[in-house]
Amino acid sequence: TYVVTEACIKCKYTDCVEVCPVDCFYEGDNMLVIHPDECIDCGVCEPECPADAIKPDTEPGLEKWLALNARFAAVWPNISDKKAPPADAEEFQGAEEKFDKFFS
Ligand code: SF4
Ligand code: F3S
Repeated sequence: TYVVTEACIKCKYTDCVEVCPVDCFYEGDNMLVIHPDECIDCGVCEPECPADAIKPDTEPGLEKWLALNARFAAVWPNISDKKAPPADAEEFQGAEEKFDKFFS
């Protein structure tokens, strides 16, 4: 599966949801997650994210993010249409410690 990681927080560009063939993105206030049981590993979303937030879970060190994606995909609503990003999205692109400060 692919997972959405910290770089999405406060950026939420939603380019990813437009290309996903199985509509497996779910939306929280500050980031999206991928449902690991629904993702078919096609990889098309990864290069679409301007914040470089989407990674294959085969990359090392993503256990925390895989668990977070699984946990919140079960409770957040599905999103399949792109929408405008937050007005301050660019300000937060590449920012550090976004999880500790802003995750919701
Ligand atoms: Fe959707 Fe494919 Fe990305 Fe999985 S890898 S979330 S199926 S676009
Ligand atoms: Fe987030 Fe990138 Fe999608 S910032 S909403 S994973 S396009």
